Amino acid sequence: MTAQDMPPPIALFRMVTGYYVSRAVHLAAELGIADLLAAGPQGSDALAKATASHGPSLQRVLRLLASAGVLAEEADGRFSLTPTGNCLRTDIPGSMHAAALVFGGITQQAWSGLRHSVQTGKPAFAEVFGAEPFEYLARHPEDAAAFDLAMSGFTRMIAGAVAAAWDFSSFATVMDVGGGNGMLLEGILAANPGLRGILFDLPHVAERARERLRATGVAGRCQILAGDFFEVVPPGADACLLKHVIHDWDDERAAVILRNCHRAMGPNGTLLLVEGVYPPRIDTSDAAISAASNDVNMLVCTGGRQRSEQEFRELYKAAGFRLTRIVPTPARVCVIEGVKA
Ligand SMILES: C[S@@+](CC[C@H](N)C(=O)[O-])C[C@H]1O[C@@H](n2cnc3c(N)ncnc32)[C@H](O)[C@@H]1O
Repeated sequence: MTAQDMPPPIALFRMVTGYYVSRAVHLAAELGIADLLAAGPQGSDALAKATASHGPSLQRVLRLLASAGVLAEEADGRFSLTPTGNCLRTDIPGSMHAAALVFGGITQQAWSGLRHSVQTGKPAFAEVFGAEPFEYLARHPEDAAAFDLAMSGFTRMIAGAVAAAWDFSSFATVMDVGGGNGMLLEGILAANPGLRGILFDLPHVAERARERLRATGVAGRCQILAGDFFEVVPPGADACLLKHVIHDWDDERAAVILRNCHRAMGPNGTLLLVEGVYPPRIDTSDAAISAASNDVNMLVCTGGRQRSEQEFRELYKAAGFRLTRIVPTPARVCVIEGVKA
């Protein structure tokens, strides 16, 4: 039943209490419930034993998850995974386990300061955690590893769509600036055997990317560099690719990153941003929900924003680029191309 099909007070109450299910999914991720159910249904007592939990209380949470379609309660009272719940397993491609930990964890805590963001225009994350998100992650390796995994879970779904929607064959070397653990670059290099790649990210992220990429088939064509994109973006690529990086920053800081990309590339360098384009009007479509949700999440967490086509044009201009085309992909992100102006 969608919100439109419900009596309005019930629809509103479901929205207000949406965090009940969100908290339960987060707990299920922390306890590793989906991995425990991967081999088949189990009763709440067995799950409680395996997770050092209080059985009757865990059962109540598992039933809440069953009411939300994350688990199914079998006729004999045992619980099994639904296709949605299966995504909480850690051992499947495109796992949402890390996303559940991050977005139901530190992100949700940051959202407790939404009012602060709206009153001050400043990200609540720094208010709640006493540090900006990427500083916080640098100091909390476990959260940082989960964040990289969460991002790469989304990116794994997007990489194929980007590689199919965009022809990279005219480039010799593409640099993924703020490339996380390299999932996008890996997908693009795999689809383009003549292409070389550079992954550039903060030192602790680059280190994890090096570890992960070492075991992939593209390792021989991929260089990993560490640094700070507010200081300098290293030279060596004819295209700079930035996926879900620019939306993290306000216009001023976004322009600094793009100017550093501009400096790093020769006169024919190409800028490729991969992220959503904010639609002219918000309705209840999936695309609008995604744009508006991401936008407020950026307000709360990083102080960044989702941008409209016009806002991207202005940003490109401020950084010395001309926006030349926007290519949609089936993955709800666009490739936003710029050339040196
Ligand atoms: C939202 S994540 C996107 C990761 C990746 N592009 C993806 O879409 O999966 C932003 C990335 O920017 C990186 N980053 C943040 N500040 C940075 C800086 N000052 N210099 C280089 N990279 C930075 C983060 O470490 C992170 O990997």
